[in-house]
Amino acid sequence: MRTHYCGELNQQHIDQSVSVCGWVNRRRDHGGVIFVDLRDKKGILQVVFDPDDAEMFARAETLRNEFVLRVEGKLRVRPEGTNNPEMATGEVELLAHKLEILNASETPPFQLDEEEVHDDNRLKYRYIDLRKPEMQYRMQLRAKVTHFLRSWLESNDFLDIETPMLTRATPEGARDYLVPSRTHPGAFFALPQSPQLFKQLLMMSGMDRYYQIVRCFRDEDLRADRQPEFTQLDIETSFMDEEKIMAMMESMMRGLFTELLSAEVDSAFPRMSWAEAMERFGSDKPDLRIKLELQTISDVLKDVEFKVFSGPASDPEGRVAALRVPGGNELTRKEIDDYTDFVGRYGARGLAYIKCNDISEGREGLQSPILKFLPDAAIQTILERTAAESGDLIFFGADKASVVNESLGALRLKVGQDRGLVEAGWRFLWVVDFPMFEYDEGEKRWNALHHPFTAPATDNPDQLESDPGGTLSRAYDMVLNGTELGGGSVRIHNLEMQHRVFRLLGIDEQEAEQKFGFLLTALKYGCPPHGGIAFGLDRLVMLMAGASSIRDVMAFPKTQTASCLLTQAPAAVSERQLRELSIRLRKPQGEN
Ligand code: AMO
Ligand code: AMP
Repeated sequence: MRTHYCGELNQQHIDQSVSVCGWVNRRRDHGGVIFVDLRDKKGILQVVFDPDDAEMFARAETLRNEFVLRVEGKLRVRPEGTNNPEMATGEVELLAHKLEILNASETPPFQLDEEEVHDDNRLKYRYIDLRKPEMQYRMQLRAKVTHFLRSWLESNDFLDIETPMLTRATPEGARDYLVPSRTHPGAFFALPQSPQLFKQLLMMSGMDRYYQIVRCFRDEDLRADRQPEFTQLDIETSFMDEEKIMAMMESMMRGLFTELLSAEVDSAFPRMSWAEAMERFGSDKPDLRIKLELQTISDVLKDVEFKVFSGPASDPEGRVAALRVPGGNELTRKEIDDYTDFVGRYGARGLAYIKCNDISEGREGLQSPILKFLPDAAIQTILERTAAESGDLIFFGADKASVVNESLGALRLKVGQDRGLVEAGWRFLWVVDFPMFEYDEGEKRWNALHHPFTAPATDNPDQLESDPGGTLSRAYDMVLNGTELGGGSVRIHNLEMQHRVFRLLGIDEQEAEQKFGFLLTALKYGCPPHGGIAFGLDRLVMLMAGASSIRDVMAFPKTQTASCLLTQAPAAVSERQLRELSIRLRKPQGEN
């Protein structure tokens, strides 16, 4: 069929007879000559059809975009002045001697170089979308990433082991995808949200170092970095503490980024406690490329007459924080209103601000609707803490700490992007010292911040029970440029501790036995100390490819509403299939 890929031909191949296969990217007719840009996975080659061969020329005139061709010809240098330095093959062209039209194409629903193609169309005609050079690059990068990770892990004694897809519910906090069992009427398998329990069992099986590139299923609200099925690089190790695990994972990531992107990566990833991350960035996955930080000012506002501030400032669960925007003085009323709406989406009830015209003039140099409520001393402290300069603007959030963190944390990212304050580079970070539990006010109970198998930072179960809110866990998250790349922990390997954690989470003995009995039993038969981590492979590739959604690095992703526009899944099934599965759908009202 072919001797070369289109994209690999260059000056070295001049005067050679070659044959290439590919898709018509574009046809141009120029003063009696026809040019076809032929595209394959390695690039684009200019093919020239000369009118000397009238029959072939006539067929070349029928070519349209996305026709599939095989062309034989001789490679030649492009005439002086017509070469295209933008193209890898820009100095050469193929003078066609033989044209085979392997297949025609209807006019495609969108052009490959079209800028604003609707996402639905891209997904419905994914096989056309994937022909784009950019998408080809992303799929190739993804394959290189998995290849690198596999060889790195294997050369470090990790064993690739598959775990079941048809299993029981796994506790990662999302809804399950269920699969009805035909042979056990009324019973269901759950698709795994992660292989968490199996990888722990593999450590109890003496496998020592496990990894798997594995699909996980979570029925949750979708966002740019979430899909209902996604891929984890899943890892578990025995006889290693968090220091050893983190060091290994750092070295793997450093290797990956240097090898594939020639990137410069910190020689040791910085670490930050969860508490510090929330305090300074309002987020447990801070984007360190943006230098803006939140400053707590609750202490100076407890007694001011402005209730919006003094309320949260004196509430132990509250927080008043400031965010300085360098040069923000120039923000218009409209822009400030838009930011106010923006933080509103995160539950903030307002967005107070102070514009700093000239800070050397003290109060006189400032401009703000709330200035009149604030005493001089408070203003002075705010200016000092935020290190405000003339020309800046300071935003304020006052509410429950969780609302302030979420809203100002998001505002920090938005303002950073809007004002071009995102520095280039790869900023890795470990977030550590997570709280073990968080209290759910609505449900009035404790939830595990990571998952219920994460070891607490204490070996004493009594201490855990006396202060659940104050207990830290042995969990760690790897964050890159504001995205949570992966998370893991050292696990509980002691039966008593596991029971106590379940109890604290409101899982009684009976429920624990029913849901996790197999794990509890296994803990009795020689469980080694163990721990691990799972990375979101899609997120990793998304960041490396500079894509803005994980959909762009998945060949066949799903929509926001978890459907596949290409295959129209999910879809109705026949009555007969349902009967076999002992499933009866509720009839629409009115029918009996
Ligand atoms: P966790 O639930 O934090 O941990 O998941 C690990 C990583 O998987 C990625 N991720 C997702 N990516 C795309 N779409 C989703 N819906 C999605 N959900 C999660 C994230 C996340 O950091 N068993 C534990 C790991 C462990 O303790 O070893 C687990 O699954 O990048
Ligand atoms: P008001 O007194 O409600 O008109 O608010 C005065 C200023 O405070 C306005 O700029 C509001 O946007 C802002 N504001 C109100 N509530 C909050 C809050 N919870 N956090 C921060 N700013 C607020």
